[in-house]
Amino acid sequence: MAAAASMNLTFWVNGTQHEVQNPDPSMTLNEWLRSQRGLTGTKVMCGEGGCGCCVVMVTHPDPANGGTLSYSVNSCLCPLCSVEGWTITTVEGLGGQKAGFHPIQRRLADFNGSQCGYCSPGMVVNMYGLLSKKPQPSQQEVENHFDGHICRCTGYRPILDAMKSFASDSGDCIDIEDLNKHLCPVNGQACNGTATNGVNGVHQMDPPLRCGQNGVSWYRPTTLEQLYSLLEQHGTGQDRYKLVCGNTAAGVYKNDGPFTSLIDVKSVADLFITQAGPPLVVGSAVSLSALVDLLQTGSDQSPSYGILAEHLLKIGNVSVRNVGSWAGNLMMKHAHPEFPSDVFTIMETAGAKVTVGTRHVRETVGLVDFLKMGMAGKLILSMEIPAALPNEVFKTYKIMPRAQNAHAYVNAGFRVRLGEQDNMSVMEKPSFVFGGISKTMDHAVATEDFLVGKNLLEDGTLKGALSVLESELKPDDSSLFSPEYRKSLASTLFYKFYLSVVGKDHLIVPVRSAPEPLVRPVSRGEQHFQTKESEWPVNQPLPKLASKLQASGEAVYTNDLPPLPGEVYAAYVTSTVANCKLGTIDSTQAMTMPGAVACLTAKDVPGINNFARPMRQTEEILCSGEVLYAGQPIALVVADTQSHADAMAKAVKVTYTDLKPPILTIQDAIAAQSFHYPVFELAKGDPKGALAAAPHRISGEVSCDSQHHFYMETQACRCAPLEDGMEVQSATQATDMVQQSVSQATGISAHRLYVSVKRIGGGFGGKTLGSLLPSAACAVAAQNVNRPVRLSLDLGTNMEAITKRAPYLLKYEVGFDDDGKLLAVVYILYEDNGSSPQCCVIPLLTEFADNAYYCPNWQFSGQTCKTHTVPTTMTRAPGMSAVHFFTEYIMEHVAKTLNMDPADVRRVNMFQNGQTTLSGYTLVDCNITKLWDDLLASAQVKQRKQEIEIFNKENRWKKRGLSVVPCRYSAFPGFFRFTVFVAIYHTDGSVVITHGGVEMGQGIDTKVTQVAAATLGVPMETIHVMSTNSLTSPNSSDTGGSVTSELNCQGVLECCRRLNERMDPIRQEMGGAPKWDELINMCHRKGVDLSEKYMEHHPPKSPHPAYNCWGVTCTEVEMDVLTGEREIRRADILFDCGESVNPALDVGQVEGAFVFGLGYWLTEKCVYDKDTGRLLTNGTWEYKPPTTKDIPADLRVTLLPNAPNPYNVIRSKAVGEPPLLMSCSALFALRQAVQSAREYSGLGDDFFRLDGPATVEACHQRCLVDSSSFTL
Ligand SMILES: Cc1cc2nc3c(=O)[nH]c(=O)nc-3n(C[C@H](O)[C@H](O)[C@H](O)COP(=O)(O)OP(=O)(O)OC[C@H]3O[C@@H](n4cnc5c(N)ncnc54)[C@H](O)[C@@H]3O)c2cc1C
Ligand code: FES
Ligand code: FES
Repeated sequence: MAAAASMNLTFWVNGTQHEVQNPDPSMTLNEWLRSQRGLTGTKVMCGEGGCGCCVVMVTHPDPANGGTLSYSVNSCLCPLCSVEGWTITTVEGLGGQKAGFHPIQRRLADFNGSQCGYCSPGMVVNMYGLLSKKPQPSQQEVENHFDGHICRCTGYRPILDAMKSFASDSGDCIDIEDLNKHLCPVNGQACNGTATNGVNGVHQMDPPLRCGQNGVSWYRPTTLEQLYSLLEQHGTGQDRYKLVCGNTAAGVYKNDGPFTSLIDVKSVADLFITQAGPPLVVGSAVSLSALVDLLQTGSDQSPSYGILAEHLLKIGNVSVRNVGSWAGNLMMKHAHPEFPSDVFTIMETAGAKVTVGTRHVRETVGLVDFLKMGMAGKLILSMEIPAALPNEVFKTYKIMPRAQNAHAYVNAGFRVRLGEQDNMSVMEKPSFVFGGISKTMDHAVATEDFLVGKNLLEDGTLKGALSVLESELKPDDSSLFSPEYRKSLASTLFYKFYLSVVGKDHLIVPVRSAPEPLVRPVSRGEQHFQTKESEWPVNQPLPKLASKLQASGEAVYTNDLPPLPGEVYAAYVTSTVANCKLGTIDSTQAMTMPGAVACLTAKDVPGINNFARPMRQTEEILCSGEVLYAGQPIALVVADTQSHADAMAKAVKVTYTDLKPPILTIQDAIAAQSFHYPVFELAKGDPKGALAAAPHRISGEVSCDSQHHFYMETQACRCAPLEDGMEVQSATQATDMVQQSVSQATGISAHRLYVSVKRIGGGFGGKTLGSLLPSAACAVAAQNVNRPVRLSLDLGTNMEAITKRAPYLLKYEVGFDDDGKLLAVVYILYEDNGSSPQCCVIPLLTEFADNAYYCPNWQFSGQTCKTHTVPTTMTRAPGMSAVHFFTEYIMEHVAKTLNMDPADVRRVNMFQNGQTTLSGYTLVDCNITKLWDDLLASAQVKQRKQEIEIFNKENRWKKRGLSVVPCRYSAFPGFFRFTVFVAIYHTDGSVVITHGGVEMGQGIDTKVTQVAAATLGVPMETIHVMSTNSLTSPNSSDTGGSVTSELNCQGVLECCRRLNERMDPIRQEMGGAPKWDELINMCHRKGVDLSEKYMEHHPPKSPHPAYNCWGVTCTEVEMDVLTGEREIRRADILFDCGESVNPALDVGQVEGAFVFGLGYWLTEKCVYDKDTGRLLTNGTWEYKPPTTKDIPADLRVTLLPNAPNPYNVIRSKAVGEPPLLMSCSALFALRQAVQSAREYSGLGDDFFRLDGPATVEACHQRCLVDSSSFTL
């Protein structure tokens, strides 16, 4: 570089200056904060900008004008080298236990917005970013600002409520003084977002920076001249260089590279120059957020600017747009033609031009020509965005798999210039641009030509244009979405545009709503529950005890543990194909890489190469020969840092032999007769005879897909060899299983293994068996290298290597009478257990298959399928959610056959006490009809159905649907056992509890504290819950089945009762009511044992449930038939939770489970490569759990009042899983909407198949949309 370059990086974190000498260009800010500074409040999950848990706030000089910029960024995508001169605020900088919690942290906790807490710091900092920019946002602005954050636990409602409480229109807006008091930990002054390093304001970014490590150089030029010199040096030869602006493309195309030179363009002021238009000119380093601001400001000059701004707000999320540049986006399209770039589609439609240059030449070209240019050694300098011309109509569209933070199935932009006012003739060639169709298609050229000179109102114009368009739409296979859908979507978007151009007055009434987007109001919620103050603190609605610590980032998760001396890091090498033999594993090159310590294979497992329980099928820790599924761990590399281990893993070369086509689906498995176990059969009554005699018979098939747990904290374990064994700190739901698995793998006996876990960042069943594989592997590595080893999986490996929910298929035959009463059900169930039947739950499903309905004759058979996919496991309501859905599906089928309301068919079949379930259990606790009638009344179902009927008649292309679904969830506490330990310290009377459950967000620590406080008669502050561990809670079950909290509460109750019993005589001696610490002191002096342990276990007397949980849910949706997009307008949930220990936490479980289920039924889809068996949906770009705007706009939860559970000492009922069963009501509501669309088309009055997940694509495809029916 021409100017002398510095090798040092200077920046500020939470007010402290840091200097890093010759920083590593490949290190992210996230890695530096967590591994170098121990600031683990900033979390990491996806590393792709897709989840938001890593968000920090940055402040730096504005290169355009010397001012200051403050905004939130995803630290996982932010290169450390790019933060020169920046001030970074992490969650620790906002507040904490010592400095006092920040108001945002407090509110998130107090509103129960933090369950497992792993997403909480990101949420807090994101809100801080908003308030710093706009101290008094509206509620709508707050909701819009949370488009990039995933919370897998809460269902978002309480998070949004907490954040909206800061809004100016919330009625409870915080005093800004109060907020500011906490805002600047740097200098103690009120923070307006501009305070930076607390020293001299904003640090200047001269001189240029140059550093390098491991063959990668980082350059940060500060002038255009320097940048051109670097491009001349690196841009034309063999050097693989990359310009770095926001670096967010690395979140999408992770395998681009490796690069030898990285050139940071963010300090070149010339690239930030803007000129207010029209035409609006923007420099290439201008971020998408800044471009939105510019366009909004200029929208009075051209209405198209406002439309462009609106569309840009649909790109990624706030933190991506804050740093991601429009130029970087265009370059992604340049490098990857299949990329459905929103910037390209909308700017090309608008007629934008980019200026591309080198030091010597500048060229201004349209975007289509830009895509054809060679860009080596060249720079995008700026873009010119023209204003719309008079009489021009301009619109853009983006249809996504979920409400936000998703790339498009298809995006489109349309621009057409009409004649004089009211003249519908197309004056000149319009511009119709499509993204997501194929690598080569941009303009619909033939359609553009066709329309020139045509009058849009004339007969034949619309049909002619559609016909031309359809002939030129040739979707390719470069997308995960079907060509049919993408083609159909392109036509329907064109139709929408056409309708909006001709205007409502020219449209028949039912079509008028077609061009309009679905409208989502600011979301709201209601929570109703009863609480008895006389019982407090039991039954008291309290926030989780650790919620403030979680919100401040001080809560420690396994991967946050500070490194031990000599600790090393492991990473998996996984198979890239399924169904073959392992050939060779060559680690020669990997072992020469920086920091390499070891590469372990199956032969290095000292004990048994099996992480599964001994009596089950062997599941290898590292593959020894037979590769069962793509993603299977083959080797484990160990290095001095995580990034070195990750690099090593990529360098290990693996070969495969005997490759055979993988079996990937249940249908494939049935065809190949690939099963694990023989068929499981259960019969009740005479199903075959009753079926034959039934007045009505139906048959059909329906299926539902897999689902990733998608816990925000990926699998993590740290194992440290001790002088006499090993310490295992595992993010597990099952310490006992981990102990067993590690013992088996290492040969170390159980009593020399100490397993512990403080909390986990979400589990949902995925950290039961799912945690055994990484724990066993980590222990094997620690034993081999004889050093502490940490194994923390990246999201991609986690999704490919670690287990998930089983897919299901049902084939059914049903007989029923004229009223819809079930007479016989023949139910043939297939469960896809992947490559291992370890977690086959078919026998258990006989307890759930009949749901809330009585049928005298049942034939149940279950077959477990063997496929070449990852072994499946328990996932929140495993299998039961599938069979529940299937039975509800049968209800819909019966109703359609008889032309009845599905709700009436459900009601007529509901269980009554005294009736016997499929499994032979005679019901004594059934209250479902009461719950059903109550909910139908409170949710005004009858009236809303009438309104929906009218709406559907009046609207051809918008449809609404409403569905009510009941649930019976059988609870089996008898299957579980937990050891609880309670001790009272004589020193100060404080009480400690350890229990056998694992705190994963459900609030078990809080609930046991409530029970202990009430039983011992002490304040809750006197009690502390320590980590779950194998010493004080040995032989405990895994945390699952929704019964762990109640069993541990019962265990604590019993311990405290016994302690009271021992202390009571002394209490009486002391007058009956001594002070607590004096009582304890006296007991200690008199030799009373002040600790107690108890194992809560009630072996079931019969194979039947101990009790049932009942509930009813009503969901209403609206769907855009032309696109398949949907909006959940309202959901009402009535749930029998018994007498909750903590109703506030249990409402959280209800909401969280329901939204978890919304993902399962509506958006989360797994796609595999048919040839290799590789999971293609292995990250946040492809896999779509619900976000904040996918939840019901109006969510009302009621816990059934006056309903103590008589079968439970603690009187509560299971809550973690049952509400999930009812989330399929959203799918059935969509079904109603689709049904209405089909009927309107005149083509589909039949009962149609709609599997789970009912994605946007699937719903649209069932609507029988045919462009020949498109009319004005
Ligand atoms: C979570 C997430 C969601 C997203 N969602 C969407 C979406 O819905 N729709 C959509 O269209 N996009 C989406 N994106 C893509 C996003 O818009 C781009 O990642 C971003 O705009 C790229 O800008 P950047 O500054 O970060 O580029 P960088 O990552 O810094 O660079 C990307 C490429 O551009 C090149 N480059 C950068 N500046 C210049 C320049 N001045 N001249 C020449 N080459 C240059 C670089 O060499 C590099 O090859 C998403 C991204 C993420 C991470
Ligand atoms: S870890 Fe950074 S966005 Fe997910
Ligand atoms: S609380 Fe949000 S992910 Fe667990």
